[in-house]
Amino acid sequence: MPARANLSHKDTQVVCAIALCEAPKSMIADVPSPIDLRQLPDAIAWEQTAMSKRPWRIEFFARFAEEIASAPIRVHHVLELGSGPGFLARHLLEQLPDITCTLLDFSPAMHQLAGTRIGALAHRVRFVERSFKEAESFQGLGTFQAVVTIQAIHELRHKRHAKVLHSRVRESLDAGGLYLVCDHFAGDGGMRNTELYMSVEEQRHALKSAGFRFVEQILTRGGLVLHRAS
Ligand SMILES: C[S@@+](CC[C@H](N)C(=O)[O-])C[C@H]1O[C@@H](n2cnc3c(N)ncnc32)[C@H](O)[C@@H]1O
Repeated sequence: MPARANLSHKDTQVVCAIALCEAPKSMIADVPSPIDLRQLPDAIAWEQTAMSKRPWRIEFFARFAEEIASAPIRVHHVLELGSGPGFLARHLLEQLPDITCTLLDFSPAMHQLAGTRIGALAHRVRFVERSFKEAESFQGLGTFQAVVTIQAIHELRHKRHAKVLHSRVRESLDAGGLYLVCDHFAGDGGMRNTELYMSVEEQRHALKSAGFRFVEQILTRGGLVLHRAS
């Protein structure tokens, strides 16, 4: 008979209590994604509706560009996390002729779409196919004066991962650099899933607890919020 069968009721309670105490963060399940953005059909489907579903994304793109143009330090190198089909990157490359962009995304399909969108501007772009969930995500990429991201932080698939990612971003920023973070928020006018999505206050808290001293909410519209952290 297996040893487990010999446990008394009390032993079983103790074992369960220990398991619960130790069940912590690592055992909290991530939220599975209903789509696989690494596959070309899903990437194309996302690309085709992204702007029509949320036409106000263009206002966010404009604000990203303005923030970079007026940053306290001169911005040459921009890192975009979860760059997808390259909508934001193209806008930034067109508006800011002095920058180069490193586009980090784990989807070869998304990089393919971004390459097409960026076209002749691709000589100012480095495509990096990596997950931003890995400890070595930014290894060997150098440092940046700005890190940007839109509609990608929730792709960590659970909000508990945000602080760690933000801390790694902070390490990859030059002194005086900017972190511009836009994502869906949970709560009124936003998303319902409070495991995947953070409230505006939780987003601010995640940035602060990652060590950013100055965190400001600079644009909120249509369920999206943009924070500037430095
Ligand atoms: C919802 S799309 C947003 C794309 C783009 N930021 C935009 O708004 O146009 C999310 C992107 O994050 C990428 N992504 C998801 N999980 C990722 C991960 N762990 N590491 C890197 N990229 C990831 C997906 O491949 C996809 O391109």
